Amino acid sequence: MTRGPVDATTTDAWKALTELRAGFEPDLRSWFADDPGRASRFTYQAADLHVDLSKDLITDDLLACLLALAEQVGLEARRDAMLSGERINVTEDRAVLHTALRLPADASLVLDGTDVVPGVHETLAKMYAFAGRVRSGEWTGVTGERIRTVVNIGIGGSDLGPVMAYEALEPFHHPEIECRFISNIDPTDAGQKLKGLDPATTLFVVSSKTFSTLETLTNARLARAWLLDALAEHGDVDPADAVRKHFVAVSTALDKVADFGIDPENAFGFWDWVGGRYSVDSAIGTSLAIAIGPERFGEFLDGFHAIDKHFAETPLAQNVPALMGLLNVWYVNFLDAQTHAVLPYSQLLHRFPAYLQQLTMESNGKSVRWDGTAVTTDTGEVFWGEPGTNGQHAFYQLIHQGTRVIPADFIAFANPAYPLVDTSDGQDVDVHELFLANFFAQTQALAFGKTDEQVRAEGTPEHIVNARVFSGNRPTTSIMAPALTPGVLGQLIALYEHITFTQGVVWGVDSFDQWGVELGKQLAQQISSAVSGDASTARQQDTSTQSLIAYYREKRQ
Ligand code: F6P
Repeated sequence: MTRGPVDATTTDAWKALTELRAGFEPDLRSWFADDPGRASRFTYQAADLHVDLSKDLITDDLLACLLALAEQVGLEARRDAMLSGERINVTEDRAVLHTALRLPADASLVLDGTDVVPGVHETLAKMYAFAGRVRSGEWTGVTGERIRTVVNIGIGGSDLGPVMAYEALEPFHHPEIECRFISNIDPTDAGQKLKGLDPATTLFVVSSKTFSTLETLTNARLARAWLLDALAEHGDVDPADAVRKHFVAVSTALDKVADFGIDPENAFGFWDWVGGRYSVDSAIGTSLAIAIGPERFGEFLDGFHAIDKHFAETPLAQNVPALMGLLNVWYVNFLDAQTHAVLPYSQLLHRFPAYLQQLTMESNGKSVRWDGTAVTTDTGEVFWGEPGTNGQHAFYQLIHQGTRVIPADFIAFANPAYPLVDTSDGQDVDVHELFLANFFAQTQALAFGKTDEQVRAEGTPEHIVNARVFSGNRPTTSIMAPALTPGVLGQLIALYEHITFTQGVVWGVDSFDQWGVELGKQLAQQISSAVSGDASTARQQDTSTQSLIAYYREKRQ
């Protein structure tokens, strides 16, 4: 039986945090100068992730208050409820068991009287066998040629995870298979991604939890028509056979997959207890499994599991996702942070911030708690970011000298995927070291800044001294790992899943529903006939929408 949320703002810990905030004067310079143990005391290990919170605006007193808050809102009980399959997604009356997707085969997790782990591993085995056949060339298209391009068609969680992980794990790709991803209903997306493809060597993976998403089904139909048209040039091809050889599907709605014409034999299922934004580790990762192979995909899942275990078993005082989630609450609710930057010093992670936007903002962008009552404090900060060092030359100005607190997570790896050396000046310069010097320098500059005395001492003209002062005390978390392997990527994703969960528990929201995306979808269905010229539907729209549609109809050639 799911209990109502504890209102965090009524707890003693919240009162203590409010008092602490009143007299809070962060001073990272003296906190470090006076406390040689600060860096080691606030550095934690979770599996392969080395996480330094010492440049966050954290003190021992604050940490004690945040841990008390976690206890008083029942974080551990809620975590255990999630991990054991309680229906904590109350608005959809569902269990939340993405963590079951990465349990080892000998584990057991009983939901409604059935152990879900064997089903998870059966699906994985089916997906792995299929991926293996595509990789080896045994799976051929209708003309007998091997598959060279895999096109994932999906959107939201059925796209962002696979594309982010595909990009991140580029060094592990099969050398002869490229993946492409079609998500947007903007016809440009399908138009561009299909360009140049040979239908005979192209495989489509239609990924949709519900198999009813307008964008995905429209793009799947476009792809099917493109395939059949293009294959016609190869002579007499049976359409049903072509679809069977060139389309597979991933969904919880296998009946709808069959209605589309995809052979149920070539469909990979998952379960309603996996949210879309938590599904990259399910069969939604089929394109990724083809790209990196079953063994690497297994390592990816092991990475998630290592962090799940850490989250489940580590006392909160050392529990990295819990600590990072609690710190985020401190920043949002007590220091008025409205956004949170994620800055990977890894070009391979260039889609990671976009992936995290769905994970965090679809999960915690809520105004109502899981019992239907209004939230009692701000929720859901905006997550954003770009890889360093590109971001340094674009928006870091605002992080260094803007008026708002922007907590920032810096992510870096000790070993590069491409260890290039610049030899042009007669010296061997390891370019990864130049790169990492930037990573270390940025967090240092944000933490410690530059005083007006320092600026003056450099001979700076007085009238520009203030413009060149850096206040410091700008919070950062440094996350490092040995290398960006499939396992480490799984660990990073699971870390942010559990950070998101922790914040959701403190705020009392259902982090697993997404009702806020529905209204726009419904209206789009209603408005589409007006866009195509139905005057009576057009007249039912507000005057702004009417005139915008009129503009479109006048200009459209
Ligand atoms: O509209 C939001 C959403 O439901 C996401 O939560 C989900 O990841 C995405 O759409 C795609 O849904 P589906 O996998 O069912 O096509």
